[in-house]
Amino acid sequence: MKVTVVGAGNVGSTCANVLAHNEIANEIVLLDIKEGVAEGKALDMWETSPVNMYDSRIVGSTNDYSKTAGSEVVVITSGIPRKPGMSRDDLIATNAGIVKSVTENVVKHSPDAKIIIVSNPLDVMCYTAYLSAKVDKSRVMGMAGVLDTARYRSFLAMELNVSPKDIQALLMGGHGDTMVPLPRYTTVGGIPVTELIDPAKLDEIIERTKFGGGEIVKLLGTSAWYAPGAAAAQMVEAIVKDQKRVLPVCSWLEGEYGQNGIYLGVPVVLGKNGIEKILEVKLNDAEQALLDESAAAVRNVMGVLDGMNVL
Ligand code: NAI
Ligand code: 2OP
Repeated sequence: MKVTVVGAGNVGSTCANVLAHNEIANEIVLLDIKEGVAEGKALDMWETSPVNMYDSRIVGSTNDYSKTAGSEVVVITSGIPRKPGMSRDDLIATNAGIVKSVTENVVKHSPDAKIIIVSNPLDVMCYTAYLSAKVDKSRVMGMAGVLDTARYRSFLAMELNVSPKDIQALLMGGHGDTMVPLPRYTTVGGIPVTELIDPAKLDEIIERTKFGGGEIVKLLGTSAWYAPGAAAAQMVEAIVKDQKRVLPVCSWLEGEYGQNGIYLGVPVVLGKNGIEKILEVKLNDAEQALLDESAAAVRNVMGVLDGMNVL
């Protein structure tokens, strides 16, 4: 079982490290375009194996895709991250070119791989990868909802002073400020969250979640990596272990939730075939309106990309 992570920067190396520590794959290939970076980080990680007691092999590669051949899952994190004052959409021109060429190389060497995009702007980079990969929609997906839901759940855990393990939540839409956390589908040990927290506080937490990425950029001067790396690794695990996890995943929609021809975060069943099923839960009018607004924001960026002639 082989998994490749493209981009050995902050998110990619964190993801590879989590995959190795949890022995999610026998072989993990970390690839980067910068000479020596992936080899150096992979070697450093491998040297932790006797301390941390794992035996997943980690191999680094400077842009040699032959080393990635036959990967079951490929995580694509290559691209530039946000700096203070930048939106995720500001990254589009640079990252679209990178995601396109990386995806083509990935598919050439691992034609059956499930591809998880992390690069931003996420929803539109998934669209870029889907058009470039020319494989079934079930095999090209994006990581955003697992991270955004984790942020939402962690904030709720702090507010309620309970374990984050007991908070279940659903969040849909694009990976941007228009994302749609759904309090009606949020529970704490099975109890609807609305019974435990007052509406104003819940709204505050929802707002904090929507801008959770920006909160970290302001503090660090670049975007987050611990939670994003762990979130991507959770999706890899669901696929390689055929766990049939129900997770929010950025998926290509063809009519679901009234949306057609767009990548958006929706709840899916994630297993060995990638996105095995999109779950359609009932949304009320207000929730559907928020999702439509989020879709419109993603379509806007798709329009910018279409006008750029990158694809
Ligand atoms: P980083 O700058 O630390 O790492 C990016 C790596 O990609 C660099 O090492 C760079 O050399 C490499 N790279 C660039 N072009 C490449 C190519 N053609 N082939 C192979 N490698 C290449 O950035 P970081 O913080 O790891 O973020 C990566 C991306 O993930 C950014 O676009 C960021 O916005 C996005 N991101 C997305 C999240 C999500 O929830 N979907 C969360 C956090 C970050
Ligand atoms: C995040 O949400 C910037 O997409 C990145 O942390």
